[in-house]
Amino acid sequence: MIKYIGSKRRLVPVLGELFRLSGAETALDLFTGTTRVAQEFKRRGAFVTAVDIARYSEVFAKCHIETDAARVDQGELREALRYLESLPGRHGYFTETFCIRSRYFQPFNGMRVDAIRDAIEAEFKGSPLYPLLLTSLIYAADRVDSTTGIQTGYLQEWSSRSYNPLKLQMPELYVGPGRAVRGDACEVVHTLEEVDLAYLDPPYNQIRYDTNYHVWETLVAWDAPEHYGVACKRIDRKDPTTKSVFNVKREMPNALRQLIADVRAKVVVLSYNNESWLTLNELIEACSVRGHVAVLAFDSKRYMSHLRNFTAHLRNVEYVFVAGPEDVVVSMTAPLQEWRTPHQQARLF
Ligand SMILES: C[S@@+](CC[C@H](N)C(=O)[O-])C[C@H]1O[C@@H](n2cnc3c(N)ncnc32)[C@H](O)[C@@H]1O
Repeated sequence: MIKYIGSKRRLVPVLGELFRLSGAETALDLFTGTTRVAQEFKRRGAFVTAVDIARYSEVFAKCHIETDAARVDQGELREALRYLESLPGRHGYFTETFCIRSRYFQPFNGMRVDAIRDAIEAEFKGSPLYPLLLTSLIYAADRVDSTTGIQTGYLQEWSSRSYNPLKLQMPELYVGPGRAVRGDACEVVHTLEEVDLAYLDPPYNQIRYDTNYHVWETLVAWDAPEHYGVACKRIDRKDPTTKSVFNVKREMPNALRQLIADVRAKVVVLSYNNESWLTLNELIEACSVRGHVAVLAFDSKRYMSHLRNFTAHLRNVEYVFVAGPEDVVVSMTAPLQEWRTPHQQARLF
């Protein structure tokens, strides 16, 4: 999986347990990002719908959530990856923009990305392998990048991993069906059927995902956009209408309240942290429209890459709100009061 701000890597085991304890069979991950939470629900047997506004997230969701591993010809997939890996590099838009004008990747790897991406578009468009190959390419590029994990800038000196040759690997697939949806959660939510459990993990401040991960957006869109600045961001992102309401301080609180109220689910699980624009009490109040509310708090190490001020606090608190019928909420959260790992310790409010 890619390096991603706000990724719930550490919370995945807890969220998986909450899913199990709820007895759910269907789940919705409304801000799926890397899809790691959706993958955990699917691994535990759920029919999952994974939603995000980002193009790359849709590709990940088509690969890990929508694709049924039982229907994939593993030999054909392995052969396709071997073929793509054998292609000679080509100096195209990706190399010019992200390896020469900026320095996210070394040119010898950038040229391979150009060649592989062209071949995926020309030879696999419309094939069920398309999102799998694209996912494999993004993961391979992420493993040899020269950033701290966000694409608003790159390291002055090449990172040591950037010297490694790009290597395509088989993506993780799970048996069973699922659904990927790309769109604004506030609109998509009205089109979805009721699920047993909905998980909401929206952006919690002004940090925009589409500009922080613009290289992945462009690698998926493959539209050679005009770009601006040293980071070579997509020029279309300058249009204010492309900004998510969850990144706008005066709009986010109401958008989130409305979403919590609108989502058709028996139980709602919401992630938030103490760097949010909403207070704990405001969030509890927002969740109370669903019924009973319990809050689990996890003390976690902070994701630091976007911070220049290294005197800033190194830990933050991740909150998981569980809202719904009282008996279900209690049976989901009570067993987790004792949750403790080397990195996390739960508190139940
Ligand atoms: C905190 S991240 C989710 C991380 C995810 N749970 C994970 O573990 O990878 C928030 C996500 O919300 C998405 N997003 C932002 N605004 C959105 C909107 N209006 N509708 C749907 N998704 C949105 C972003 O693209 C980003 O992937």
